[in-house]
Amino acid sequence: MTEDLQKRIRKLAEERDALIISHYYCVPEVQDVADFVGDSLGLSQEAASSDKSVIVFCGVHFMAETASILCPEKTVLLADIDAGCPMADMITAAELKKKKEELPGVPVLTYVNSPADVKALSDICCTSANALKVMRSLNSPRVLMTPDRNLALYIQKFIPETEIILWPGFCPTHHRVNLKELKELKKEHPAALVAAHPECQPKILEEADFISSTSGIIKFCTESDRGEFIILTEEGVIHPMRKKRPDKVYLTPQTPLVCPNMKKNSLEDVLKCLETLTPVIKVPEEIRVPALRAVERMMAVPRD
Ligand code: 13P
Ligand code: SF4
Repeated sequence: MTEDLQKRIRKLAEERDALIISHYYCVPEVQDVADFVGDSLGLSQEAASSDKSVIVFCGVHFMAETASILCPEKTVLLADIDAGCPMADMITAAELKKKKEELPGVPVLTYVNSPADVKALSDICCTSANALKVMRSLNSPRVLMTPDRNLALYIQKFIPETEIILWPGFCPTHHRVNLKELKELKKEHPAALVAAHPECQPKILEEADFISSTSGIIKFCTESDRGEFIILTEEGVIHPMRKKRPDKVYLTPQTPLVCPNMKKNSLEDVLKCLETLTPVIKVPEEIRVPALRAVERMMAVPRD
């Protein structure tokens, strides 16, 4: 059944001149049917450099919006229209406008996990893979960073010369990592290294041996000479790690780290998307043009 669906999807993707891209947090069978699997920065770059006319995005709404911002000439489809991001919903353009009025002259750095109209009001964007580099590139004594408070607190430690003004947003999936559970897991597996995403709370990051974006975590665990890891990010990342290094042990906390929105993207959705060429995600020009400025400014900062 799964293989049959995947075959039909691949055939239709060819006929439709479509590129299928999936975030690492999507279910394994969706990752396996995609042309490219990556973190949010990698996916944006792949969409932008592709010569295909249709992009099928298996991820969440703000990611498809970013693809639309970067490639207005392409048809950008989101596999499941209901796949949103609660963190992105923790900021609106009206709220940001008001905050900017309170902070004249202070640059705004916005995490890509945000709506397009918020990006349009920002000076520059970042992802978890480049947040510190982007913050450094601003070279400013004060910066308003939105919407992820935990990511802002994490990078603040490395850049004391800049006062980072926080926005009270967070990712419910990463925010739920439980300190007691983590300490117990570490005790049971003393040889395991802890790899965490910076969307986790500061008290959790203090327990980590390695902190990075999803692609950074995958690289670290699969290339390390150690064999056991506690994974503190959405558990979809374990699929590519097991494919690459099945000999290693990937442990997860008792309370699962699952993003219900990423998991909404199913093979049936991908097939339907290709059959109907809907739902289309299209950012209106008056928002796209200023948002593109902030995204392009980010992309000009080299990634690790
Ligand atoms: P990255 O893909 O940038 O690591 O982001 C994680 C995330 O939560 C995406 O929603
Ligand atoms: Fe949003 Fe968190 Fe899900 Fe990423 S993992 S899409 S930040 S809710």
